[in-house]
Amino acid sequence: MNNFIFQNATKVYFGAGCVREYLACLTRGAATVLLAYGGGSIKRNGVYDEITGILREEGKTVVEFSGIMSNPTYTKVQEGARLARDCRADLILAVGGGSVMDCCKAVSLAARYEGDVWEDFWARLGVIEVEPLPLGVVVTVAGTGSECNGGAVITHEGKKIKTGRDYPQLNPRFALMDPTYTYSVPKGQMVSGGFDTLSHIMEIYFSPPDEDNVSDDLMEALMGSVIRNLRAAIQNPEDYTARSNLMWAATMAENRVVKMGKQCDFQVHNMEHQLGAYTDCNHGCGLAVLHPVYYRHICQAGLPKFVRFAQRVWGIDRSGRDDLALAQAGIDALAAFIREIGLPNTLKQLGAKEEQLQQIAASCPISQGSYRPMTSEEILEIFRECYA
Ligand code: NZQ
Ligand code: ZN
Repeated sequence: MNNFIFQNATKVYFGAGCVREYLACLTRGAATVLLAYGGGSIKRNGVYDEITGILREEGKTVVEFSGIMSNPTYTKVQEGARLARDCRADLILAVGGGSVMDCCKAVSLAARYEGDVWEDFWARLGVIEVEPLPLGVVVTVAGTGSECNGGAVITHEGKKIKTGRDYPQLNPRFALMDPTYTYSVPKGQMVSGGFDTLSHIMEIYFSPPDEDNVSDDLMEALMGSVIRNLRAAIQNPEDYTARSNLMWAATMAENRVVKMGKQCDFQVHNMEHQLGAYTDCNHGCGLAVLHPVYYRHICQAGLPKFVRFAQRVWGIDRSGRDDLALAQAGIDALAAFIREIGLPNTLKQLGAKEEQLQQIAASCPISQGSYRPMTSEEILEIFRECYA
């Protein structure tokens, strides 16, 4: 394996009832809590009442920061930072999915930093010398794994850039993960989140080195689990086993464990993020459209790994096929799964305009972790193949 340093500073409390059991003690010492959430799903499913009830019982001053949108913007980060400063928040409690958690990570830094966090930390990798405001999260939808890393993906609307940074200092102090909180997630968002998890694993799996390593073995098991449990959760949205496996698999994919020793690709994420910057499309849906086409482009450069993916993840027999045909059968199985779970397969369905594609392609960062690094021209080719 390649050399690495591993640390994960987030303490996880997982399971049904964990918020009721642990939130009061985890917020002890914080007189003022900035309660952050999205568009209001937590008010409809009872999560808001449960959390505010506990905080009220503990005598907290609760200040609300609501309306965090999917694909959170830098403007929203600035709004949250102003609020956190004005109310002298001791703790940010982010309740939601990747968008709420990411926005709050950026707020936790912006609230304590005098300068412009976009310019100094997202536009370029800066060194964090201030202590961010403490952040705890309550996960309500599985997918990004943001609860257990320092990653925060923010969109600068003016510059049309959506980009992420992973600073260990931005890892939440604690993550409360109750799988029953995800029962109310609509099917479209559930499969999009599940596919995001699968995408994170594939972005790491399909990258050098390919010598025998623990990470690749773990990832094959994780991919199998996501596929199996997505199917089960579609059948029964209140299947606790399926929801809990999906929730923990999402964390496992992005808590840095399976990245150890791997170069990591994330070219498809780079492309989807820019697609999101221009179209505000759903993250998991954008990934679902791009993945199979991108893999058809790079499959020959990483042939042994694509063969292994076909055999070990999808259980496809060689049946007289040569390596290339077997590798392609694995990618076909991935594309069929995307159709089966109801995710889109064209950029047109996501609301992209054909005339935007050139500009979007030109704005995509090129990953150096790919089996074969792209050019902007080839990215445009992929976008065009995905269009309709
Ligand atoms: O806003 P509300 O009303 O709460 O509704 C949300 C939102 O519409 C809804 N939802 C959440 N929990 C629910 C629920 N609806 C019913 N019941 C519940 N329990 O779900 C919708 C989507 O939420 P969002 O947070 O946007 O989704 P997701 O978790 O997929 O996050 C996507 C964002 O995370 C970034 C993406 O780029 C995107 O901006 N990512 C963050 C990463 C990280 N920090 O590690 C890695 C990822 O690759 C990704 O880029
Ligand atoms: Zn993702």
